[in-house]
Amino acid sequence: MSFAPVLDHTDLVSSDTERVVVCHDRPTGMRAVIAIDDTTLGPGLGGVRWMPYESEDAASTEARRLARGMTLKNALAAIPYGGAKSVIIREEPVQDRRALMEAFGRFVNRLGGSYVPGVDMGTTVADLATIHTVAPDVSCDHQDPSPWTALGIFSGIVAAVRHTDGTALDGHRVVVQGAGHVGGVLAHYLAAAGAEVIVADIDEQRAKMLAAKVGGAFTAAGTATGYRCDVFAPCATARMITPYNIESLGCRIVAGGANDVLAARHCATLLAERGVTYVPDFLINAGGVIQIHALRSGWDNAQLRGAVMGIADRVALVLERAEASGSTPIDVAEEIASERLGRPLTIPA
Ligand SMILES: NC(=O)c1ccc[n+]([C@@H]2O[C@H](COP(=O)([O-])OP(=O)(O)OC[C@H]3O[C@@H](n4cnc5c(N)ncnc54)[C@H](O)[C@@H]3O)[C@@H](O)[C@H]2O)c1
Repeated sequence: MSFAPVLDHTDLVSSDTERVVVCHDRPTGMRAVIAIDDTTLGPGLGGVRWMPYESEDAASTEARRLARGMTLKNALAAIPYGGAKSVIIREEPVQDRRALMEAFGRFVNRLGGSYVPGVDMGTTVADLATIHTVAPDVSCDHQDPSPWTALGIFSGIVAAVRHTDGTALDGHRVVVQGAGHVGGVLAHYLAAAGAEVIVADIDEQRAKMLAAKVGGAFTAAGTATGYRCDVFAPCATARMITPYNIESLGCRIVAGGANDVLAARHCATLLAERGVTYVPDFLINAGGVIQIHALRSGWDNAQLRGAVMGIADRVALVLERAEASGSTPIDVAEEIASERLGRPLTIPA
């Protein structure tokens, strides 16, 4: 498929994001922000998040932060896509979900293929199928990539444990925060590998059910970050690790699926100072985008599985280089992505 990079900057509202489109559909009242961070490697690939935001500014900040993470993620995963993300501002009550998604899709369509949307928190495969009725190029309209995201995270956790402890995962305690699409599948992989799994979710019923299914235990959502464990696997919302809770973290390794896990960049330094191994989210949670690329490229299952399991090698490489150089794993992961992009790129401060 031919793709023309975005050259029209008339709606640029940030000096660092390639393009930010603020969308308002009057008939449905739908408001959204689409952030295309960088299209050096290809069209911006990234999910559609549907959540309440306190303001359009907050939605825009979230979209731009997440879009930068997608640029780094796709570059590190060596797939031919740039980074993008969109957020639809959720307002209750939702009158007509289908009309809202179609309205959003019309804005995507106007971007001429420079943004390829996928699922993210709040949206489903059915929503993407609706968007696809008005925008020709979308991902995740047939299949949920979450199981592949979970497999990649699992392989990255195994590599992080091997790096930190020199052992297999067997017998390690892992706290999975978020029993949703990613955390739910991850918990099964962890349990099958002999890990002791502890599940936390603001939906306690969901957490308890998952814990029971995998033979693990439940803990209240508020206790997850402080729970004594080997690995904390954040698979819920963003910015769970903050300068304020790092001192009370109960884990030795942070490695999970949630995007934008660190509330501030310097949390990476604080974690290193505390001796906690941090695996950057944009490095470890790329299984889903790899699956999207595989589907679009006609890969077979073995090729896809091999590429997703390759996340383990990248995690090992980044952790080794960080240890040898005294840099944080984020610095090293950004350096590798920047080499691919041909210019220095970092996650937002
Ligand atoms: N789905 C994917 O393929 C994919 C790919 C890359 C990254 N991610 C990221 O992984 C994370 C999880 O994605 P998902 O698709 O599983 O979402 P999901 O909506 O299916 O599940 C999220 C779960 O987290 C729970 N949760 C929300 N806030 C919480 C809190 N404060 N404490 C504990 N639990 C909380 C929710 O109740 C829900 O069960 C998100 O940050 C997403 O951006 C997902």
